[in-house]
Amino acid sequence: MITLTINGKSHEVDVEPDTPLLWVIRDAVGLTGTKYGCGIAQCGACTVHINGEAVRSCSLPASDAAGKQITTIEGLAADGKLHKVQQAWIEQDVPQCGYCQSGMIMAVAALLKQKPNPTDADIDAAITNICRCGTYQNVRAGIHAAANG
Ligand code: FES
Ligand code: FES
Repeated sequence: MITLTINGKSHEVDVEPDTPLLWVIRDAVGLTGTKYGCGIAQCGACTVHINGEAVRSCSLPASDAAGKQITTIEGLAADGKLHKVQQAWIEQDVPQCGYCQSGMIMAVAALLKQKPNPTDADIDAAITNICRCGTYQNVRAGIHAAANG
């Protein structure tokens, strides 16, 4: 048994300690907003926050997240209000198919916490998520809009 705190709620899950956190979030806890893309820490579709930092959950053993604050896309909005990145994503019409976008949004939210007004170089360095629809220009516009919003 591992105890995980996800979006402020404690969950006791019966999984092997080396089960990737992504599987626990999706299958054991039932939060399916976090997506599986590559499984090898390359695409970023599975990005969540652990203690506020962006982490690719497909490649993190669940036991490593025990005792830490895990936030998924379902927990990003607070007090009934969308996070400023989610709001900017709607206003800028960023997503196309949407599959990569929860990971994108989580990565961007973590970036803006560290750098509230990132340059294009900061964005290029920090946001390495892969989008098969090619929304990269929209993502960049969305980040600047969220930073200025
Ligand atoms: S599914 Fe985790 S980085 Fe691609
Ligand atoms: S919006 Fe379709 S993969 Fe990114």
